Amino acid sequence: MKTQVCIIGGGPSGLMLSQLLDLKGIDTIVLEKHSREYVLGRIRAGVLEHGFADLMREAQCGERMDREGEIHEGFYIADNGTMSRIDLHKYSGGNSVMVYGQTELTRDLYEARDKMNGKVIHNVEDVHLHDLNTDGKPYVTYRSGDDIIRIDCDYVIGADGFHGVSRKSIPKDVLKEYEKVYPFGWLGVLSRTKPVNDELIYARSQRGFALCSLRSQVLSRYYIQVPLTDKVEDWSDDAFWEELKTRLPEDVAARLETGPSIEKSIAPLRSFVAEPMRWGNLFLAGDAAHIVPPTGARGLNSAASDIYYLYHAIMDHYLNGDDTGLDQYSQKALARVWKAQRFSWWMTTLLHSFPDTMAYDQKLQQTDLEYLFSSEAAQSSLAENYVGLPF
Ligand code: FAD
Ligand code: DHB
Repeated sequence: MKTQVCIIGGGPSGLMLSQLLDLKGIDTIVLEKHSREYVLGRIRAGVLEHGFADLMREAQCGERMDREGEIHEGFYIADNGTMSRIDLHKYSGGNSVMVYGQTELTRDLYEARDKMNGKVIHNVEDVHLHDLNTDGKPYVTYRSGDDIIRIDCDYVIGADGFHGVSRKSIPKDVLKEYEKVYPFGWLGVLSRTKPVNDELIYARSQRGFALCSLRSQVLSRYYIQVPLTDKVEDWSDDAFWEELKTRLPEDVAARLETGPSIEKSIAPLRSFVAEPMRWGNLFLAGDAAHIVPPTGARGLNSAASDIYYLYHAIMDHYLNGDDTGLDQYSQKALARVWKAQRFSWWMTTLLHSFPDTMAYDQKLQQTDLEYLFSSEAAQSSLAENYVGLPF
């Protein structure tokens, strides 16, 4: 087989790039390790930057998002019982975020790919990338049953998430990895219940962090900070609801509607960046190159900014014969990636309980929160990062 751009990974990054390029007449093939049902079964992000929402519209995938997604112009921070609102609209110069689940967004992208007869090949095994940094053209091989299939291409996009093969195809002496692992995870529950609040609540409490989020007016998503040693099986639904209530202000806890969990999982918290994001004709995008702790809702949004840069760079190459964007991709993408890293680290540090923290650090955390709500400049800084820095 032959294509112009071979994309490894059929998550949101890979599908979005494939859709955008196809609309410009650039041929792509997407190789995905799992089935579509498996990919759509993963419950992940829920908050989209306005820039991401614009990209969905440009990809002609924004119709359902605009109909069913919710525009949020603010969120709450609860600090040991006291709720304070961050006015995103006021402090970001009129911007907002879109609450629309990653699952739904991925479903929309798959449907758009189907409509255009996009080539998305599922259940591929043993993907290998070849000749990425030689004078010749790269190619990709994968196994389908007993057959080894070869795809010749101009460029390979590594959009295969943190555990994918693409990043590992870059030699160790070229790749520099930066990592910070947090000593806790998030236990998340999805339930068919009315959300406890119209806007998200990020709660700091003596017993640890909690987040009240939503997918719609009948679907809620809640998280609590848990030790890394906890297993999902340790947490019955009842135990989860009881613990969540203890971390929320009393009036919020009193109106919390509980019900059976539809999904329950634990995600460890990690910050990670791999540099460079280009090696020869391989370009990394999204979780394949960087991970953030979920606190600032940056993970999926950082992936989207990579796709924005790649889309424009590849378009310039094929349509205008201009390689400046490709040459500058790594540098440009990383500049924004590191800002998302900084913001996610800061929000994580501000709101979580850290085991073995010195009294001094606790005082600083408290002071950081007090400063936030006493300073319009601090709220502007939070708001402009949360709605998304410009691409
Ligand atoms: P992925 O979504 O990981 O997609 C990569 C795809 O590549 C997958 O479908 C995978 O099956 C495929 N793949 C892997 N290896 C191969 C291979 N060898 N060959 C072919 N295909 C392969 N972000 C937030 O903003 N908020 C959240 O609440 C949040 N929660 C999260 C919870 C979890 C458990 C995880 C893991 C992430 C979470 N994130 C969250 C982050 C967000 O979901 C990711 O940033 C986003 O999914 C990145 O999209 P991606 O397409 O780059 O990678
Ligand atoms: C959600 C996840 C986040 O990490 C976040 O900061 C906000 C919302 C969510 O899953 O809804």
